[in-house]
Amino acid sequence: MHTAKTIKINMYNKKDKLVIFDTTLRDGEQSPGASMNVSEKLRIAKVLEKLNVDVIEAGFPIASKGDFDAVFNISSNIKNSTICALARAIDKDIDAAGEAIKPAQSSRIHTFIATSEIHMQKKLNMTKDEVINQAVKSINRIKKYTDNIEFSPEDAGRSDFDFLSKIIEKAISAGANTINIPDTVGYNIPSQFGDLLKKLIENIPNSDKAIFSVHCHNDLGLAVANSLSAVMNGARQVECTINGLGERAGNASLEEVVMTVKTRQDIFSCDTRIDTKHIVPASKLVSSITGFPVQPNKAIVGANAFAHESGIHQDGVLKHRETYEIMKAQDVGWLENKLVLGKHSGRNALKTRFSEIGYEIKDSGELNSLFEKFKNLADIKHEIYDDDLHALISNTSADDNISFYSLSSIRSISDSKSDPHSIVVLEKNKKCFESESNGGGPVDAAFKAIEKIVNSESVLQLYSVNNITDGTDSLGEVTVRIEKNGIIVNGIGSDTDIVIASAKAYLDAINKLSNKSNILHPQLDHV
Ligand code: KIV
Ligand code: ZN
Repeated sequence: MHTAKTIKINMYNKKDKLVIFDTTLRDGEQSPGASMNVSEKLRIAKVLEKLNVDVIEAGFPIASKGDFDAVFNISSNIKNSTICALARAIDKDIDAAGEAIKPAQSSRIHTFIATSEIHMQKKLNMTKDEVINQAVKSINRIKKYTDNIEFSPEDAGRSDFDFLSKIIEKAISAGANTINIPDTVGYNIPSQFGDLLKKLIENIPNSDKAIFSVHCHNDLGLAVANSLSAVMNGARQVECTINGLGERAGNASLEEVVMTVKTRQDIFSCDTRIDTKHIVPASKLVSSITGFPVQPNKAIVGANAFAHESGIHQDGVLKHRETYEIMKAQDVGWLENKLVLGKHSGRNALKTRFSEIGYEIKDSGELNSLFEKFKNLADIKHEIYDDDLHALISNTSADDNISFYSLSSIRSISDSKSDPHSIVVLEKNKKCFESESNGGGPVDAAFKAIEKIVNSESVLQLYSVNNITDGTDSLGEVTVRIEKNGIIVNGIGSDTDIVIASAKAYLDAINKLSNKSNILHPQLDHV
């Protein structure tokens, strides 16, 4: 008995592959305000592909037409990563997922159903047997679309061990080849979660027929630690997100998981195939698209992660880098923010650089419009960096075939002797709308003038300004978060003029809000 267990665990002691499953576009998008449109999701997917992410969870196709289109689009365009779609254990979800992943070269469907007592009773109102039957039935239905099947017993971290083992055994027998163990509410601690994985792998008779995966939430700040503890106990897939984005406090952060495994190869008996030099560009892109800033002291991708403040540290690093640094900044892409272009650069150079940072310009119309913006910026700011280009693109958020407002013009007066005043002209469906307002400051006046036109009745929750590169001529990036009837969205806008950037950000949020009103949340809706 003891020998059998040891053999199973020893199977993992040789260096094997740790599958990186990125869920930035699905769980990450469940983060309040982190909504993304189809083209933004595709841009992120392209960077994830460059990172060599094994599986990209591209969305939850039944949730909305936008989510379906995003998964379909990503499936059509990404070749080097498996594209996964999420589905509750319900026929209509599975069919939507199956249709959305059809164009993919390599595809997977991830289905889930809750297995904790509290979820089964209060959310699903189902018995244990009904839950098992539903899971098995769904796995069988998925086979119509793909044989790459992932099953998650939702809230596994709080589920009864024997029941969990039973449903997993049945799921594997039915054809699931990845079993994902979610700590849905971020309740577990590392030793306990590692132990859970070890015991499941040891006790489930057919556990060798599936890869065990983990999906940890960060409610207690333990998502990465729990994931790594699980890896040390046999898990061979980690579900994670760029910058740790995700529902509530987020998911395990991809960059922390990957860099820990890479840096501590003396401890881990597995490795990933992530091309780590794309980590920082991916982090910046996700931050700029979602409007979620990265805290300066965030591991790996924070602005201070490789900055040495104290004199002793600086002296040590200059003499010998390894005195205080365990990783090289360039290995995670810190030096990638290249000085790329200037006033005299041409269209071709611009198009090539956009492609290098993961954005394919569709046609000459788009190139001309971006080139004009680029030239205007280059007139004000002589050195254009990759971050500036990211901001130029993020400003062009119009797509998804929705009718949206754009800023035609704005005139704001800031005068120490009279009230700040703003006059704005917006355009929608080729019609112009003009309005004006006073305000507490020029930004406030601009928002009030815009609100008079759009009538969104939303509540402003957050307003923040960052400069994208150094200098007072830098592009300023503004993030605006608004809320209406429980739906929260972030908008971003950038310009060398902060008032214009603010107006753009506000309109971006308004447009997203109108596109988001009937989206379905995978875990709040009953089966
Ligand atoms: O947190 C969770 O349980 C999930 C599942 C859908 C895997 O996101
Ligand atoms: Zn989750």
